[in-house]
Amino acid sequence: MEITGTEFYSYNPHTNNNINFRGHIGCDVINRFGKSQRLTTETAFFREYDTLKFAVNYINEVFKNIKEKRFLVGACSSGEEVWSLKMLMGNTPVKITGFDLSPKQIKNAQKAVYELSRPESVGGHEFMEKYSPSGFKDYFLGVEPDKLTDSEKAQKQMFDRMFENITDKPNNIILGLNERIRKVFDISYMELKKLHYKLRDMKQQDCKFITGNIEDLNKINGCNKNQLFSFRNALYHITTESDSIGRYPYDPEEIKPKLDKIFKQVNHTLMKKGLFILGEKEHNQGGDMNIVCASLLDNGFVPIRTKDNLPYYNVWAKYKDVN
Ligand SMILES: C[S@@+](CC[C@H](N)C(=O)[O-])C[C@H]1O[C@@H](n2cnc3c(N)ncnc32)[C@H](O)[C@@H]1O
Repeated sequence: MEITGTEFYSYNPHTNNNINFRGHIGCDVINRFGKSQRLTTETAFFREYDTLKFAVNYINEVFKNIKEKRFLVGACSSGEEVWSLKMLMGNTPVKITGFDLSPKQIKNAQKAVYELSRPESVGGHEFMEKYSPSGFKDYFLGVEPDKLTDSEKAQKQMFDRMFENITDKPNNIILGLNERIRKVFDISYMELKKLHYKLRDMKQQDCKFITGNIEDLNKINGCNKNQLFSFRNALYHITTESDSIGRYPYDPEEIKPKLDKIFKQVNHTLMKKGLFILGEKEHNQGGDMNIVCASLLDNGFVPIRTKDNLPYYNVWAKYKDVN
């Protein structure tokens, strides 16, 4: 295998717990090939912050000679991931195309009005800070800066630069909590204030959203070459089948050729050394990660390694073209 030049980069994902909390939480049902398919559309601003930060630092360093960067964000749901990457890129010019299978979420992304919750009771921000997971912590963007950690303050500053608070009258809601939290704290609800934020200027952000399927990348991307392709927390829609009871992995013999076809196309959309990023908890979402890794290796990707030379299986770099 060729040396990739990516061994110098290290990355440490959070692995604290799996409680899902805030962000956009939802499920859309679409009709495909005469069958209805359930799409889990939950997402959040700065979800899995360490992965995003790592990716942006990597791109800025490895592709420093490219003046205007290009990113593709698949499974972008209502757009939070696209805006998070855009915020993290700061003043560096970048064009981002977000796509998703759900036309409803693409409409939401184009509208760019978001709801955030501010915790008002049961320990407020301190409670959320301690017990909400890395994945769904965007509630803090609606909290006063003096209560935030340094990293949250930096994220809120980026957010406030790009979004304005358009809340007319905040409505209070009582939220049922995750069973695990309820058991630990012997509480049954939490009170939140809902706040609304709007993107300040869509035209100036160089981001666009289209309805599309990762299986049809040629239609979405054309011949463009990108430095980053994200498809986070969505692979299970491809590797598993779901019904009202649970998710079940498809037969590996069926899945490997399907993934090969997809990852070959992903390869074509990326420059050499470009990154393909998956979710930090992809392995918990029901699909068989061994097949995913085998297919990525077969299609010109290598996993990014830690300082101790261990591979992280959610950040991959393209090391060669495949035909
Ligand atoms: C759980 S959300 C993940 C959102 C975001 N990437 C994140 O990590 O926060 C999964 C999204 O994948 C989308 N999706 C599922 N299958 C897809 C496919 N084949 N092509 C494009 N998007 C897909 C769903 O519509 C849904 O919005």
